[in-house]
Amino acid sequence: MFHPSYRPRRMRHDEFSRRLMRENTISTNDLIYPLFIHDGQGRIPVASMPGVERLSLEELLVVAGECVALGIPVIDLFPVTDPARKSLDGAEAWNPDGLAQRAVRALKAAYPQLGVMTDVALDPYTTHGQDGIIDEAGYVLNDITVQALVKQAVSHADAGADIISPSDMMDGRIAAIRQALDEAGHINVRIMSYSAKYASAFYGPFRDAVGSAGNLGKADKKTYQMDPANSDEAMREIALDLDEGADMVMVKPGMPYLDIVRRVKSEFGVPTFAYQVSGEYSMIKAAAANGWLDEKACVMEAMMGFKRAGADGVLTYFAPQIARWLKED
Ligand code: PBG
Repeated sequence: MFHPSYRPRRMRHDEFSRRLMRENTISTNDLIYPLFIHDGQGRIPVASMPGVERLSLEELLVVAGECVALGIPVIDLFPVTDPARKSLDGAEAWNPDGLAQRAVRALKAAYPQLGVMTDVALDPYTTHGQDGIIDEAGYVLNDITVQALVKQAVSHADAGADIISPSDMMDGRIAAIRQALDEAGHINVRIMSYSAKYASAFYGPFRDAVGSAGNLGKADKKTYQMDPANSDEAMREIALDLDEGADMVMVKPGMPYLDIVRRVKSEFGVPTFAYQVSGEYSMIKAAAANGWLDEKACVMEAMMGFKRAGADGVLTYFAPQIARWLKED
């Protein structure tokens, strides 16, 4: 009889030894919940993201209460802007009484213990749907845009935001935002930088949700978001953002970019996050709705993939569902 020198299946034989050798775990502490908010009443479903709704301020507070009860550490806000308030320069982004700023104030008053993160980029506010200010040719101008992002970031921090999250991919914005936050007295407001953000087709449903898809039309974001072909370039982006003062870095999208997550964690050893984006959410939802995939098993497997790749946390639209599953098990 042939006996292999080692049998890996031995440790997989029983649940107790599978548990014993498990290298990674999923916890509610790993979750950041992205939420869409609107200035009207009630909840408006997002057609391309089954189960996701745009929330009024009142409904936002209801959901925030649920997040606190579930132990989710942080929520991330994405406002839907009234088309009448959109402009070429996206000035609504730094309106102290804008939707995002009012939402932050209401959240921090109701649930001071819940971390509130805000997205810094101009796309929900511009008539052309780009993340920055454009020239006649439609090119996003870097340095003028950074000045606008600084105003937006400070207005969010003034409203009480705990984490500022620039998702625009302009050069030099982390340094500019850090300096402006410090000068405004917000030395403890954290920055989670979308450092390695790719020009991805997986953002499609998100652009429906915030209502920027129609503004953007057939244009793309390839002059500022990264080329999916590149990995070394992502390391350079991460190094720059850390140098400029980022507290946490993010890779986005998630599942197609797990190699990037692993490289960031291995090469820099800093707090590293992955964004399971709208398209990743919708794929799982659509397949599950057709009975082709087991939703819970696939979501948890994807989460484990993020953890194994080295992510300290994941931005996911499944966050409350995952937290509930973890409670049940
Ligand atoms: C905007 C922004 C986007 C996402 C987060 N912030 C879209 C984009 O860059 O076009 C995508 C999130 C998702 O798809 O879930 N700067």
